Amino acid sequence: MTFIARIDDVEAGYALQVPVEGREPVALVRLDEGYFVFDDTCTHGAASMSEGDIIGCEIECPFHSGRFDVRTGAATAFPCVKALRIYPVKIEGDEVYAALDAGTRADESTS
Ligand code: FES
Repeated sequence: MTFIARIDDVEAGYALQVPVEGREPVALVRLDEGYFVFDDTCTHGAASMSEGDIIGCEIECPFHSGRFDVRTGAATAFPCVKALRIYPVKIEGDEVYAALDAGTRADESTS
């Protein structure tokens, strides 16, 4: 498990970009129902999803307004058709961890 952030580093309804050594950054989103970690780079282009808006359970890309379901990574609005890779999250005390070696994509049968 990789340390992502402290639970208070991100407010509910917001996203935080988290740099990760040796790989592309991930995004941490806090919803009322929990914390979600997924690749920060949009699957349609080079946008940082953490700069997009959270609308309900979806995050909207700041470049072309494609959307993804934060909880599953599934693409929900054009022009995004490929899911974001999401990672299992674990809360320990006031810290958020993610299994960055166990990512899955909603549109793949295997990770
Ligand atoms: Fe995200 Fe185009 S780069 S919708």
